[in-house]
Parts: sequence; structure tokens; C-alpha cells
Amino acid sequence: MIQASASGKIILFGEHAVVYGRPAIAAPVSTVQATATVTQAAPGRGLLLELPDIGERVPVSGAAAQPPLAMVARLALHTLGCEPAPDWTLTVRSTIPVASGLGSGAAAATAIVRALAAAAGATLSPAEVSALVYESEKLFHGTPSGVDNTVIAYGLPVWFVRGDPPQPFTIAQPFTVVIGDTGIPSPTSIAVGDVRRAWQAEPARCEALFDAIGQVVHAARRAIENGDVDPLGASMDQNHRLLQEIGVSSPELDRLCQAARQAGALGAKLSGGGRGGNMVALAQPDAAGQVVDALLRAGAVRAFATLIGA
Ligand code: MEV
Repeated sequence: MIQASASGKIILFGEHAVVYGRPAIAAPVSTVQATATVTQAAPGRGLLLELPDIGERVPVSGAAAQPPLAMVARLALHTLGCEPAPDWTLTVRSTIPVASGLGSGAAAATAIVRALAAAAGATLSPAEVSALVYESEKLFHGTPSGVDNTVIAYGLPVWFVRGDPPQPFTIAQPFTVVIGDTGIPSPTSIAVGDVRRAWQAEPARCEALFDAIGQVVHAARRAIENGDVDPLGASMDQNHRLLQEIGVSSPELDRLCQAARQAGALGAKLSGGGRGGNMVALAQPDAAGQVVDALLRAGAVRAFATLIGA
């Protein structure tokens, strides 16, 4: 039996604007994980993808209309030179809530690619894993920037600009964030599609908002590289206001961000596609517990603290 996992991710700064060429900062979140297991199956059966969390079993075949995770498995086998498909069962389990902004699709795909490579006795570089996962991201949500597959496949905090290789990025002083889940599933593709329509209708207004987000992301990078955590809170608040103007926040996300600030968070913003899913708040380590409690009282279905850059 061969097993591999991949962490979830959180976008700290720059979502949506990153689709339009501005930078984003994202980090892995190891508290939530996807795991893929490869076991030997009966001869002649080929590769079967099992998704026990949603009760699905999909034979991985050459058919054009395969679910994204079957597609990434097939692509990985092709890259690994494992054709025809070996007689394996590939079981994927995940603790990452789906459609919540924590990268559930990219993490499941990354775990699949890593497990198939290990089962084939091969080693793929993070760049190769990321490129394969990007193909499934395109099926999940149309025009992905590539930030999710990059941060998850590299397993490191990244400074990401669409089309560029991820840049090394120093976190001088690890910092604590609290992640709160509205419990409202929100597929990234819908929010990304709505932003595209807004951009087509009002390109100048949207470009100005993306530029403003880009400036916030640059300021956040300087603060993170200098180990200057406090100004990051204000950057989060600013980034959230700009995302509100773009139209991807929601009353639930606004309520959780406000509850986090009132409980002592230094700043808060929605994270990922928005509309539902998760928000993230910056907290001093000794205030993280009270921010978690405040988020749960304000209606979050899940809230936890995690350290970025440790
Ligand atoms: C989704 O995690 C982040 C978005 O910026 C979309 C993308 O970058 O592809 C909303």
C-alpha cells in the first residue's frame, strides 16, 4: 500500500486580482489534508478511483468526459509512462471542506499525483506535480490563476504571479491566523465567472480595484519579510474592503470578519473565491482562542488557528 497526502491552502492576500496578473500570497494549511492511497487490485481491472467521502467509484479510462480527479489520475499515469493503466485502486479521502476556499480540489489532485508517482517508483518535482494539478484546476474552475496548485504542490508559502514560477519568499516571523468557515459552499468557478462579467462590463473600474489589491499585496509582502506582523492586519482589512467592492463578499463573510476584529483580531478578510467559504483573521497568538470562540458564536461552522511560516 502506498499513501501520499497534500495540505489545504489559504490565500492570505490577492485572490481574484491574481487571475488578472496581480500578485497573491498564499500558504499551505496542514491542519486539513487530502490523502490518496494506492492498493493492488485484481489483474485486468485497470485503475479504479474511489471517493468514499462522497460515495463515488469511477473507473479511470480514456473517455473524454471524466471527472477532474479521474482526469488528473489519467494524465499522471501518462506522464509516468504507466500505460495501459495498472491494476490499482486509488482511494482519496479528505478533511478539507469542499468549495470553501481551502483548495480541496487541488489538494486531492496533488495527493493523487504524489501517490501514483510513488506507486510507480518515480519522483516528480513540485513543478511537475503543480503542472499536472493545474490541468484538473482548469476543469474545476475554468480560468484558474494557478495559485492553488502552486502553493499546494510546493507545500510552501508562495508569492505568486500568474505565468511566473513561484518566487522564494521569506517569512521572517511566523504569525498566527484564524480561519473561519461560513459553512456556505461556494464553488470558485461561480465567483470567478461573476468577476469576469463585472470586468467585461466595467474594465476600468475593475482594473483600478485589482491595482489597489496589488498594492496591498506588495505592502503585505514587505511586512512579512521584515517580520513586522502588526501592519498585516490593516492590509487584510483593506484587502477585504476591495473584495467587497468587487462584489465577492457576503453578509456571512462580513459578519465573521467583524466578529474576529471585535474579538481582538488585528485584521480579517474573506479568503479564496468568496460569497461563502472561509475567511481568515490575523491574531496575536494569545488572542487566537478568543477569536476562534467569537467566530463560532457568530455562526462559523468551523474555526481553527494555524501558524503561517513555522
Ligand atoms: C481561488 O482559491 C483563488 C481565486 O483567485 C481564483 C484563482 O486564483 O484561480 C479566486
